[in-house]
Amino acid sequence: MCGIIGYVGKRNTSKLLIDGLKKLEYRGYDSAGICILNNNNLTTIKRKGKIKDLEVVEGISKIKGNIGIAHTRWATHGEPSQINAHPHTDSKGEIALVHNGIIENYHSLKELLIQDGYIFTSETDSEILVHLIKKFYMDDLETAVKNALSYVEGTFGIAVLHKNENRIVVARRGSPLIIGIGENEMIFASDAIPIMDYTKRVIYLNDDEMAILSANDFKICKIDGEIVDSEIHEIKWSIDQIEKKGYKHFMLKEIFEQPEAMENVLRGRIKEGKIKLTIDFDVSKLERIVITACGTSWHSALLGKFFIEKHVNIPVEIDYASEYRYRQTIVKDNDLFVVISQSGETADTLAALRKAKADGAKSIGLINVVGSTIAREVDSGIYLHAGPEIGVASTKAFLCQVTALILLGLYIKQEKGEKLDQEILKELFNVPEKIKKCLNLSKEISEIAKNYTHSRNFLYLGRNNNFPVALEGALKLKEISYIHAEGYPAAEMKHGPIALIDEEMPVVFIATNSAILDKVISNMEETRARKGVLITITDNGNEAINRLSDKIISVPRTHEDLSPLINVIPLQLLAYHIADLKDLNVDRPRNLAKSVTVE
Ligand code: F6R
Repeated sequence: MCGIIGYVGKRNTSKLLIDGLKKLEYRGYDSAGICILNNNNLTTIKRKGKIKDLEVVEGISKIKGNIGIAHTRWATHGEPSQINAHPHTDSKGEIALVHNGIIENYHSLKELLIQDGYIFTSETDSEILVHLIKKFYMDDLETAVKNALSYVEGTFGIAVLHKNENRIVVARRGSPLIIGIGENEMIFASDAIPIMDYTKRVIYLNDDEMAILSANDFKICKIDGEIVDSEIHEIKWSIDQIEKKGYKHFMLKEIFEQPEAMENVLRGRIKEGKIKLTIDFDVSKLERIVITACGTSWHSALLGKFFIEKHVNIPVEIDYASEYRYRQTIVKDNDLFVVISQSGETADTLAALRKAKADGAKSIGLINVVGSTIAREVDSGIYLHAGPEIGVASTKAFLCQVTALILLGLYIKQEKGEKLDQEILKELFNVPEKIKKCLNLSKEISEIAKNYTHSRNFLYLGRNNNFPVALEGALKLKEISYIHAEGYPAAEMKHGPIALIDEEMPVVFIATNSAILDKVISNMEETRARKGVLITITDNGNEAINRLSDKIISVPRTHEDLSPLINVIPLQLLAYHIADLKDLNVDRPRNLAKSVTVE
């Protein structure tokens, strides 16, 4: 999704901004631009396409100036084009602005501004902001921004320059901004990654706060004026965690990091047969758990429901955050509201959390990005410790989310005074080794993948706790290979999707050991009878599975209730290899964004 970076200091700003934009590429974008201030003159250059298209614009690397802003745009209002790209400027080129988010009342504001004689050149909602700031500008950018924002409805992370002021004004409502405090320099961005090359000391701007940044000084205040005393945090990640380290893609690297990621999420959280979590309130009397999330994180929520209902005997409802936020929901005294998010910035998940909290819910967040907005707004949290996830398709964060949900479920059981299943606790520590064995199948899976690069559709089928794994396998494939794929509970197939099955339809079955493996095998028989092509993930050398399957991917056996942690790995690899064989941009699939900060 859109990215912002800006700088004020002594360095070559043009190069710094372009380098920073490259670090934001993983978020997904369709155009980019920079604006640099020098000698009371703003130079703005923008292009549709990739950062490399911007980088080669003649003269861009020679623009002088030590203060500037830059942006990657992911189109919402208006097509991807040079005109719609940011920064936007007023018609005299005195003010430049970059914006993440959506201005909801832009139609009415635009009409008013047009009546006042302002001329619009783009189709974006963002352009109204620059004209609105211009309207209020009377020699002080800070005041003009404050006044303009008081008329704005919607979400924004903005950065603004005026040709006569050697400072940058930034502000946020609903769209993240992080300010890096360097030695005689300030660098800010919509996530921490481009900042880390310069400083690890950061301030996370909160909603309705703004910052006024110059090389040697900063001021944080509320948009309504009140001064804020913000805490400076230290970023704990290192730069080498966000390098590819010899892997062809970030996604592959992240798939291979999963054994370690799982060890990290477990570390220190199981001791002497007990679960140690820092939850700031009593969970012993819970009567219901509601989990909301989006996409892959929603799939892990569904897995959490299977595990918690079975082991903790508490009803768990799950909801898409985008639905929860707009429907009539009920929060009761002994409810727990759980949000799951890799980025901690997903707009729908954040809105669902705020709604539940406003209704009195106690909340827990399962979040990967430390210091993200959701991480800061939940009452209590479990960090996933997956490390930075750069590939747009989520892999290691999913594994850590599911592990964290298992820990949370067991923790609640323990706090209720019930005995924990020691076999599960022990086996959790064996899973990373078993994941390594799955990773050794990568070559074999890439051979299998060669047969399916021309497939147009895929079905993924699993039952019970492997139904969410089927959903996740299908999502991974469609995201990065653009092959249409659906996940279903295997037995549900006969109620409709079976009509799709013919010799052109690969069907991935998850058929690992479980109390209902025989039922899964019956579903495989039904598929085979319709000439479907079966690719089976199994830990079982069963004669029927061998007979029915065209391809078999053998995975190590684990506890039935932990099997999703193993079974998802070959599905990630299958999706990866199919997309890679199709020569697609695995890490930055079309139309997708890593962090979905608009609704
Ligand atoms: C799938 C994927 C998305 C995200 C979803 C939620 O591979 O990456 O479906 O899972 O956008 O994102 P987070 O977890 O950051 O809230």
